[in-house]
Amino acid sequence: MTALNYQTGFGNEFASEAIAGTLPVGRNSPQRVAHGLYAEQLSGTAFTAPRGENRRSWLYRIRPAAMHSTFTAYAQPAFHNDFGSGPVSPDQMRWSPLPLPNAPTDFVDGLFTMAGNGGSEGQHGIGVHMYVANQSMQGRYFYNADGELLLVPQMGRLRIATEMGVLEVEPQQIAVIPRGVRFRVELPDGAARGYVCENFGAAMRLPDLGPIGANGLANPRDFETPVAAYEDIEGEFELIAKFQGHLWHADIGHSPLDVVGWHGNYAPYRYDLRRFNTIGSISFDHPDPSIFTVLTSPSDTPGTANLDFVIFPPRWLVAQDTFRPPWFHRNIASEFMGLVHGAYDAKAEGFAPGGASLHNCMTGHGPDAATFEKASAADLSQADVISDTMAFMFETRAVIRPTAQAVEAGHRQRDYQACWSGLRKHFSAS
Ligand SMILES: [Fe+2]
Repeated sequence: MTALNYQTGFGNEFASEAIAGTLPVGRNSPQRVAHGLYAEQLSGTAFTAPRGENRRSWLYRIRPAAMHSTFTAYAQPAFHNDFGSGPVSPDQMRWSPLPLPNAPTDFVDGLFTMAGNGGSEGQHGIGVHMYVANQSMQGRYFYNADGELLLVPQMGRLRIATEMGVLEVEPQQIAVIPRGVRFRVELPDGAARGYVCENFGAAMRLPDLGPIGANGLANPRDFETPVAAYEDIEGEFELIAKFQGHLWHADIGHSPLDVVGWHGNYAPYRYDLRRFNTIGSISFDHPDPSIFTVLTSPSDTPGTANLDFVIFPPRWLVAQDTFRPPWFHRNIASEFMGLVHGAYDAKAEGFAPGGASLHNCMTGHGPDAATFEKASAADLSQADVISDTMAFMFETRAVIRPTAQAVEAGHRQRDYQACWSGLRKHFSAS
């Protein structure tokens, strides 16, 4: 693949044109757009959202987005937002990697819903999905009206051709596709697997840094947005829409990725998690994992996120007189974890790259017995250098309800609780 160009920064007012002179100057919708294009606004926030939160882009395209056939239902029963309303088990849950498909499967057909809360109708909550695929999307395009998509590849690169240009991501990078943006996923390496968080709430943004200061965590200049690239092709293509929890199909006679130029702050982006500037304790005590927040979707309650995307990257642990791995804890928020690469420092085994775990509101969890014994006897005069790892967490204020297909899946580890059964009683009153 040839190297792609990107525009850097987070939420900037970007501008890009694939043909010089496409973007109008001094207005958004001139009577006639250069090169015979149509002008179209794509709004990701209410028209009257405060300026700091307002997200919209102007697209100058060969044909308007309205041009396609009527929609009919598209059957992909593994991908949905049916999180149920009945009893939900407070059990700790863990899964081995979702098996790769044998039959030809593209990104849309390979999505498998693990869990979620809220929904698109109320515009709050998240859907948690995994994807496994072995072929590129061919002659079909997808958009999600229900939420923005955070893609976390675990195996294989993705080449994501969007209305605003092309993004390439590999494991340990992420991509974010805003609500409504049309795209096609190609697999340059063949088989691919990864995680998807579907954010029904407010668009993700960088967290405030508070006393950390002006720098640290994910720095804005490391976020990359594509430059304009268009397809001028016609044929019998397919547009798949996700709308109110279900998929819909329409015929479309041309590529909807026909935007020749665009400007605005509503656009897809990618970020390399290896650029995250980890901040941690240099005296004592293991900090709360909020110190590792990459992106956050705020709720209406300050400090209580609809979604925090948190990573556990390579780092040095130097705290003294401290149990260095994550402590045992219970949390009002709920935590879905995945592992992109390497090993996670709180578990000796069982949490494999491509696997997942779910620890819901007030459910106890923490290091397994082997990790506890090892860390309790560690030499704290030496730093622990945690290298070659990349775990992450989707944390959300509401309970994450596992789907029936995830609970019943063959790759769920039904003996997960046993990882704590070896914790010995050390208590002595004397
Ligand atoms: Fe936790």
